[in-house]
Amino acid sequence: MPRVIVKLGGGLITDKSQYRKVRMDYVDAVSAVIKEMKDSGYSVIIVHGAGSFGHLEARKWKLSEGYDQEISEEQSKAISRVRSDMDDLNEYVVRSLMNVGIECEVMPPREWATGVGVEFQGDLNSFVRDPEQPIPITFGDVVDTADDTRFGILSGDHIMVRLGCEVPDVSACIFLLGDVEGLMDRPPSEPGSVLLPTWKLDEGFSKSHNADIDVTGGIMLKAQCASMIARQVEDVWLLNGTVPSRMLTVVSKEDTLGTKVLQ
Ligand code: IPE
Repeated sequence: MPRVIVKLGGGLITDKSQYRKVRMDYVDAVSAVIKEMKDSGYSVIIVHGAGSFGHLEARKWKLSEGYDQEISEEQSKAISRVRSDMDDLNEYVVRSLMNVGIECEVMPPREWATGVGVEFQGDLNSFVRDPEQPIPITFGDVVDTADDTRFGILSGDHIMVRLGCEVPDVSACIFLLGDVEGLMDRPPSEPGSVLLPTWKLDEGFSKSHNADIDVTGGIMLKAQCASMIARQVEDVWLLNGTVPSRMLTVVSKEDTLGTKVLQ
């Protein structure tokens, strides 16, 4: 049976403007759809982002830039705080899945990954599961690095690339976004921006997307990561996670409202 990998973006499952504010109704709605996919026999892997459980503190103490001697004490406290905040956010997601009858196995990147970006080191074999086994779940995290940066932020989007390209039998990779139908031609805050129903890397981005960036790269990173996966996986989509039933349409190989990322 095919495998589906789903990324719950931080902008969907948290309110990005308020520190540690989870959007539980959206998490629960996604859990219900994942349950339906699982019941139809799909193997599922879940990755989630950080939103306001990670980006605010990470930006404040420049965690994505690595070790800085001048603020090293604050950085080390911030690393512990971001990691424990991520564990808390993960617990919300895992509990929501448990409430619909899905068992998960949590695999925090700090325990199995080193390095940042798409080339991070880490064994992905334990993500390969049969549909009846617990769902593996991981997330963007602060991880150790092997060079003198000492640590950095591994984005869930980069984990998606490696899982999508290296795990067998992946038929669909879905990036769930918050409050936007998919990739827009300009940031959704700009009046008149329109949804791109398909997108390829060589189409590039409008320059104004640059302003939307967060510590791990925002929508442009997601689209670039999705495009890397599209070289190997047929259905790679950016979808509005507030309407999670669209995932079911995608896994049954039909078109839906969203952006299909092409090779
Ligand atoms: C970021 O992970 C992790 C931290 C800031 C600790 P992601 O890049 O996957 O998060 P979102 O989806 O953008 O929030």
